[in-house]
Amino acid sequence: MDGSLTLKGAADAPFYLPQGDECEVFSAAADNDLPVLLKGPTGCGKTRFVTHMAARLGRQLHTVACHDDLSAADLIGRYLLKGGETIWVDGPLTRAVREGAICYLDEVVEARKDVTVVLHPLTDDRRILPIDRTGEELQAAPGFMLVASYNPGYQNILKTLKPSTRQRFVALEFDFPAPKHEVPVVMRETGLSEDRAKLLVRLANKLRDLKGQDLEEGVSTRLVIYAASLIAKGMPMERAILAAMIEPLTDDADVKTGLLDLVTAVIG
Ligand SMILES: Nc1ncnc2c1ncn2[C@@H]1O[C@H](COP(=O)(O)OP(=O)(O)OP(=O)(O)O)[C@@H](O)[C@H]1O
Ligand SMILES: [Mg+2]
Repeated sequence: MDGSLTLKGAADAPFYLPQGDECEVFSAAADNDLPVLLKGPTGCGKTRFVTHMAARLGRQLHTVACHDDLSAADLIGRYLLKGGETIWVDGPLTRAVREGAICYLDEVVEARKDVTVVLHPLTDDRRILPIDRTGEELQAAPGFMLVASYNPGYQNILKTLKPSTRQRFVALEFDFPAPKHEVPVVMRETGLSEDRAKLLVRLANKLRDLKGQDLEEGVSTRLVIYAASLIAKGMPMERAILAAMIEPLTDDADVKTGLLDLVTAVIG
């Protein structure tokens, strides 16, 4: 890894506190035209990381939230009727390919199977996007980069990435930031004092320890930030924690009671 991180848009990039060497790896992948896969739980900083890196690299970012109805045409484009005329309109992937931008496919495992077929020739050394409907075969412009993310925790048998797809990406694993990172992130995002941010982060980590037993997923950094914002704006701590860090986690009354006991133990 070199010093290429003195990047164009660094000053204006949205705030992102690195957990390790992820910025260097992403930047090296970008330099080498390699696609990147971000794996990690909800609300741990993946989207923020991509927006930060896109700004630092001085590249446009086109984000697509994938869902089970997302088709290749949604990404590539389609013919639309406009004022009696049929015109071709590029989808976000095609725009990124033409412009040399970053295309970020959020929750890529959700997308329909025909999407992966489109991604294959783009994510190996051919870097081409065939557009069947127009007969074009686009060569990706310099700077084009494909970034995809998914949450391995939600995976089921039907929704996994095939090896032939995942083995086309450089992959980075994300997790909730360690307390020494999460505390300053919460403070910076919300203006909450250090002692209160530390308390919330301590509680968050206790709640995360329950993952797998009572909770499907640990409380996200996003929710800790929600709680911190409410507290910073004057809401009593217990109320904010209930609304932002407990209620979103479970609908089960017994589990909730258990979580509230934990809150009392940590917050006092
Ligand atoms: N390392 C970090 N530096 C700065 N902010 C962070 C960091 N990690 C998390 N955050 C904060 O957490 C919030 C949630 O992160 P983000 O939206 O990037 O999650 P995500 O991993 O994309 O989640 P999802 O999978 O649900 O889309 C961000 O808005 C940001 O405030
Ligand atoms: Mg996201």
